[in-house]
Amino acid sequence: MIMRRSLVVGNWKMNGNLASAELLAKGIIAGLGSNNAEIAVCVPYVYIPSISEVVKGSGLALGSQNVADKASGAFTGEISAAMLSEFNCKYAIVGHSERRSYYGDTNESVAARFCQAQEQGIIPILCVGETLEQREQDQTFDVINTQLDAVINLAGINAFNNAVIAYEPVWAIGTGKTASDEQAQEVHRYIRQYIAAKDQTVADKIQILYGGSAKPDNAKGLFAMPDIDGGLIGGASLDAESFLKIYHSI
Ligand code: 13P
Repeated sequence: MIMRRSLVVGNWKMNGNLASAELLAKGIIAGLGSNNAEIAVCVPYVYIPSISEVVKGSGLALGSQNVADKASGAFTGEISAAMLSEFNCKYAIVGHSERRSYYGDTNESVAARFCQAQEQGIIPILCVGETLEQREQDQTFDVINTQLDAVINLAGINAFNNAVIAYEPVWAIGTGKTASDEQAQEVHRYIRQYIAAKDQTVADKIQILYGGSAKPDNAKGLFAMPDIDGGLIGGASLDAESFLKIYHSI
C-alpha cells in the first residue's frame, strides 16, 4: 500500500494587505500542532519576501500563485521562477482557472510555466478542471486529458515525480457549490489512472488535491476519499481558524 503524504494549500488570491498577510501566516503557524500532513500558503507576489521571513523555521511552506513561462528577459510585469526561489518558494500554482479564463493562460503557456518552476526546484501545483458547461456536455474527462497532455508532452511523465495536481472544477470555485465526495473522487481516480497508464510509480506517488468551495464542514469527507490527497483552499484559507480546521481534518 502506497502512503502519500497529505497536503493542504491556501491560495490567498488577490486579498489582504501586508499587515493582514503577516497576521494570517503567524496565526496559521501558531495552530499547526502535530499533524503529519504538509501545509503551504500561496500568497500575492509582493508579500512573498515578508511571508518568507515569517515562515522561516516553521512547518508552513510558501508558494506563489503563478510563475513566468520564460526564464528571464524583456517580459514586463512577469516574475521568474529564479526570483521566487530566492525567497524559498517551495510551490508555484500554474494554470489556475482564473488565470486561464481572465488572463489568457493557455495549456501551452501553463506547460511552460510548469517547466520553469521545476527548473528552479519549485514544485508546480498544476490546476485542471472543467466548467459547468463542459461537465453538462460530458466533456470533463476530455478537458482534463487535454490539460494534462499539454504538460506531459512538454515535460514528460517523469516530471510529475516533482509536481502536485489540483482538480478544481470551475463551477465549484468561489460558488459555495462543492463537488460531492463521490464526484470529486471520480475525477481524482480518473486523473490517477490516466497517469498510471503512462507510469504506475508516478501515479502512485503524486499528490492530487481537490479545490472548489472546500470548507471546514466538508473537508473531512473529501479528504477521506482514496484518491484525494488534500486540498487547494481559496476563501476558507483567508481565516487562520477555518484554514487550520481544514488542515486538521486530514
Ligand atoms: P474557493 O475555495 O474560494 O472556492 O477557491 C478555490 C480555489 O480556486 C483555490 O485555488
